[in-house]
Amino acid sequence: MKIAILGGTGEQGPGLALRWAMAGEEVIIGSRSQERAEKVAAELNAELGQARIRGLENPQAAEAAEIIVLTVPYTAHLSTLESVKTQVQGKIFVDVSVPLDPENPRRMKMPSAGSATEEAQAFFGTETKVVAAFQNVSSHLLRDPQHAIDCDVLVCGNDAEAKKTVMGLVTQMGLHAYDVGPAESARVVEGMTSILIRLNIRHKVKGSGIRLTGLPR
Ligand SMILES: NC(=O)c1ccc[n+]([C@@H]2O[C@H](COP(=O)([O-])OP(=O)(O)OC[C@H]3O[C@@H](n4cnc5c(N)ncnc54)[C@H](OP(=O)(O)O)[C@@H]3O)[C@@H](O)[C@H]2O)c1
Repeated sequence: MKIAILGGTGEQGPGLALRWAMAGEEVIIGSRSQERAEKVAAELNAELGQARIRGLENPQAAEAAEIIVLTVPYTAHLSTLESVKTQVQGKIFVDVSVPLDPENPRRMKMPSAGSATEEAQAFFGTETKVVAAFQNVSSHLLRDPQHAIDCDVLVCGNDAEAKKTVMGLVTQMGLHAYDVGPAESARVVEGMTSILIRLNIRHKVKGSGIRLTGLPR
């Protein structure tokens, strides 16, 4: 599977890229700058010991991939969606965005659509299958691929098949995914991240996460 990670040059993208590349997927780092994308891809390939990751500008990365993952700050959400609108038509779009209040990351500032995921789905239309995932997994944990992550991944979206595909990608990383319903559930999933940030600050840690109990694994 070809996976593009838009904004893959930041905190959250490289860990996802590394873990999928280690699982055998072809990964494209997307950026506003071809040079930055190539630089990060080269660094990750050096870490991997093989060339499974390349770098392209966001629209070209989205065009070349079957699955497009968005890891940009929420303030860049709509502008990045606009930049890839035609390239993502008919594909699976994984939104990792968390609409935190830029003035206080312990709080949410949800868009009028309800959540970033619903905003993306409304923006693209039903042809593109938007799935929310990884909002509650810390970049610090993802970025260290030699260590298993003690955390579950909540996946939601309106298309059952697209969710199954994304849950398969979560499983490839050794994490357990739960389907928690339609795109509307992203209001809770995204919102939970502000609580995890509070806990990180209070307990002076970098990677609090969530684990569901009482369910089959
Ligand atoms: N970090 C975490 O632990 C974590 C955990 C869960 C969810 N998330 C969510 O994942 C998303 C990405 O988080 P992050 O920490 O990876 O963000 P980040 O490091 O601040 O930014 C990621 C990338 O976004 C691009 N970007 C920054 N400003 C932009 C702008 N104005 N317009 C277009 N692109 C811009 C940059 O790439 P280029 O300059 O190369 O284009 C940057 O490298 C956020 O929505 C965050 O809430 C993060």
